[in-house]
Amino acid sequence: MSMTPTVPPSGRLAIFPGSFDPLTNGHVDIVLRSAHLFERVLIAVLVNPEKNPLFTPEERTAIIREVFREYPNVEVDTFDGLLVDYARRRRASAIIRGLRAVSDFEYEFQMALMNRHLEPTLETVFMMPAEQYTYLSSRLIKEVFSLGGEVRGLVPSIVEDRLRSKKAAP
Ligand code: PNS
Repeated sequence: MSMTPTVPPSGRLAIFPGSFDPLTNGHVDIVLRSAHLFERVLIAVLVNPEKNPLFTPEERTAIIREVFREYPNVEVDTFDGLLVDYARRRRASAIIRGLRAVSDFEYEFQMALMNRHLEPTLETVFMMPAEQYTYLSSRLIKEVFSLGGEVRGLVPSIVEDRLRSKKAAP
């Protein structure tokens, strides 16, 4: 690793990338922790047509914008293609990822090292959510809700409302 001092990009922007289909309270927890560490946090919603998402990227960004409307240093955007290319365009200095359990580690480790290979100046920062969210995932929320289970307290109330509207829609 080169020890040559470099001038850090101004504003210390961290990107929190993900599918967010939908946003959970675990994601919210990670964003709020990151917003204490970085001057700006950009939640970047992956537009991935192959994944057959429940919510469109527009719906997901609208939910996120609403949830963080009182946080001026939290922004939301969509991206496609390589995360490192998007991070370069946005002049980000870090990628934030949440680590819930050891089972997350292998996939996250691979991604972090591949992203470092592609862009050595971009650091991945892992954050642990509060314990009560360590078992939470967007996939489980969708499954539990679709089968009539209670998701209150696990997702922001706007997500609960949107899940209900999706279910009611023909
Ligand atoms: O919430 P997710 O689905 O676990 O997020 C995965 C995400 C969006 C971070 C990852 O799939 C990604 O970065 N995709 C963009 C394409 C890319 O850069 N792939 C190489 C990653 S090493």
